Amino acid sequence: MHLRRLFLTLLIAIAVAGVASAAEYVGSEKCKVCHSDIYDDFIKTGHPYKLRPADEARAGSPENGIRAVTEIPEGVSWDDVSYVIGGVWWKTRFINETGYIITGDKVQYNIETGEWVAYHPGEVKPYNCGRCHTTGYSEDGNQDGLPGLEGTWAFPGIECEACHGPGGDHIKAPSKDNIVKDESKELCGKCHIRGDKDSIPAKGGFIRHHEQYNELLASPMKDLNCVTCHDPHKSVKNPTVTDAIKIGCESCHSDAAKEYEGTVMDKAGVECIDCHMPRASKSAVAKSQYEGDIRTHLFAISIDPNAKIFTDDGKYVAGGYVTVEYACLGCHKDKDREWALKYAPKAMTLKEEVKPTPPATPKPTTPPPTPTPTPEKQPGFEAIFAIAGVLAVLYFLRRK
Ligand code: HEC
Ligand code: HEC
Ligand code: HEC
Ligand code: HEC
Ligand code: HEC
Ligand code: HEC
Ligand code: HEC
Ligand code: HEC
Repeated sequence: MHLRRLFLTLLIAIAVAGVASAAEYVGSEKCKVCHSDIYDDFIKTGHPYKLRPADEARAGSPENGIRAVTEIPEGVSWDDVSYVIGGVWWKTRFINETGYIITGDKVQYNIETGEWVAYHPGEVKPYNCGRCHTTGYSEDGNQDGLPGLEGTWAFPGIECEACHGPGGDHIKAPSKDNIVKDESKELCGKCHIRGDKDSIPAKGGFIRHHEQYNELLASPMKDLNCVTCHDPHKSVKNPTVTDAIKIGCESCHSDAAKEYEGTVMDKAGVECIDCHMPRASKSAVAKSQYEGDIRTHLFAISIDPNAKIFTDDGKYVAGGYVTVEYACLGCHKDKDREWALKYAPKAMTLKEEVKPTPPATPKPTTPPPTPTPTPEKQPGFEAIFAIAGVLAVLYFLRRK
């Protein structure tokens, strides 16, 4: 009796689990039918192009502002390439015909500079990046049966269902109850993270890339979600898209915005994010000592002369802020930290250009007399009499 009950319960559990897992990944094309506006935005973001079979990468999607990957490492033929990693905004890496990432001295292409750089020369690198680059990822098995591709996925790239969960049930009977809508920063933080969420790894004088979640958590705006500012379906990188950020800094910081209005730099077109989200992070290219190629999400700027952006070993961000080198010297390339520290406290209020070098003018004394002296007004005689008087007194005192 007892056993039969247990057996029945088990059967029901299995049945329910079966139903629950029946939802299948169907692909973004299926969602397009009913959510065409969202699809049209989404297809202009880097997300779905993150990992592509070689043919698709070579074709690109010019109608959506997505470049075609025409570059290939020297000595490699397209027949040797199974998938292309990225190659959308920052850099391109290649996967060979057995699923391993192609390594060597000149195998990573940096889009901004058009340079080939090293990627783990001499190492064998399996593609173990799928959990952040694909949709419906499972750690088990090898995609396409290729030994270098660790794990399997329903679709390469970040498709609708990477954020909304499998849509098999939803497309049959659309309802809010059979599709995920998650507005938390943890959703984005599954992939826009590196290592442990409580630290922010750094390397070579820059914050490392894909750490937006780590950074946001360390920033003064840790309570905001990514989608408070971002439309999750719109690209911030695609030059054909300009409204990916739903709400500007000035909406929540009206006092600061008012303070900044009409300043020298405001008039020159310098925006809030130029100082508060400088490119202190690096994916592919360092443009100068203090300028990488990804905007930081730390937001805060420390003007403390003793503040350091990195820990002494250079491996982590020290606090939840950038220092003035990163906030200012990316633009003011001919200046130094001292200069930046001097003017940073005034950065948001500077209404007039400062003189190039503080001129060594003497303390303002009486202005030089105009060349029309009026004898009656000359103070000379009084002064001479006064001095003569004092001298006379001194003379008599000393005689005593
Ligand atoms: C046959 C039309 C149809 C297709 C195909 C479809 N949807 Fe929907 N979707 C709807 C409708 C209708 C609603 C609104 C349901 C409601 O308000 O109850 C909806 C709502 C949603 C919502 C909002 C849920 C919420 O809690 O507000 C999301 C997210 C969503 N769909 C994602 C998807 C994704 C992802 C796909 C592709 C896998 C997809 N939809 C395919 C019709 C469709
Ligand atoms: C499954 C992993 C994953 C999830 C979840 C994810 N992202 Fe991404 N995201 C990526 C990867 C990988 C890239 C790089 C793709 C590219 O642009 O080349 C990227 C790129 C981006 C970019 C820059 C590219 C562009 O075209 O604008 C933005 C902005 C972005 N993600 C925001 C978000 C936000 C906001 C969320 C949460 C709503 C989110 N992402 C969730 C993996 C993910
Ligand atoms: C990077 C993650 C991500 C991807 C990829 C993504 N979405 Fe969303 N989507 C979200 C988040 C987060 C929300 C809720 C917050 C918001 O609407 O700003 C959302 C909201 C929605 C909604 C509800 C809109 C509303 O007004 O309530 C629909 C419908 C939807 N998504 C459909 C899609 C479809 C269809 C695709 C693919 C073409 C897609 N999403 C791709 C993250 C994503
Ligand atoms: C924890 C998630 C995660 C892992 C693991 C990960 N990436 Fe990424 N990757 C991202 C995100 C998010 C971005 C885009 C945002 C950024 O760089 O800050 C990105 C960007 C990239 C880009 C640049 C894309 C472009 O269009 O220019 C390349 C190339 C790349 N990753 C390669 C790899 C390789 C190779 C691996 C594995 C060895 C890997 N990534 C592992 C999340 C991840
Ligand atoms: C949705 C509202 C919202 C938006 C949008 C927003 N912030 Fe904030 N910001 C906050 C909140 C809330 C805090 C924390 C409380 C506080 O210090 O005012 C904060 C704190 C800050 C701080 C630290 C303030 C201090 O006194 O130390 C800075 C700097 C900052 N934000 C800059 C920005 C920048 C730059 C942008 C645009 C990229 C921006 N914020 C967009 C809400 C917002
Ligand atoms: C030229 C660089 C620069 C620009 C542009 C800039 N800021 Fe700042 N901002 C700073 C610096 C430096 C500090 C730190 C000042 C301090 O600690 O005294 C700061 C401080 C802040 C703070 C915290 C302290 C405060 O004054 O309330 C907020 C909030 C803020 N800025 C918001 C903004 C917003 C919003 C914009 C755009 C309208 C903006 N900033 C534009 C450099 C800049
Ligand atoms: C306070 C608003 C705000 C929040 C919160 C926010 N972002 Fe951003 N994000 C921005 C702005 C503004 C940009 C720059 C847009 C531009 O360059 O025009 C940006 C840029 C980006 C980029 C591209 C960076 C580059 O330089 O290429 C990525 C990726 C990104 N955000 C991901 C995220 C993720 C993931 C989260 C949550 C963990 C998040 N953002 C939270 C405002 C925000
Ligand atoms: C996006 C680029 C950019 C950033 C970032 C930036 N500035 Fe500027 N700054 C300018 C421009 C443009 C001008 C006006 C024209 C000029 O003097 O070159 C200017 C003017 C100035 C001036 C007046 C210069 C003079 O010679 O009269 C000072 C001082 C200044 N910035 C300080 C700072 C400080 C401090 C920071 C960091 C907190 C900063 N700037 C960040 C672009 C920038």
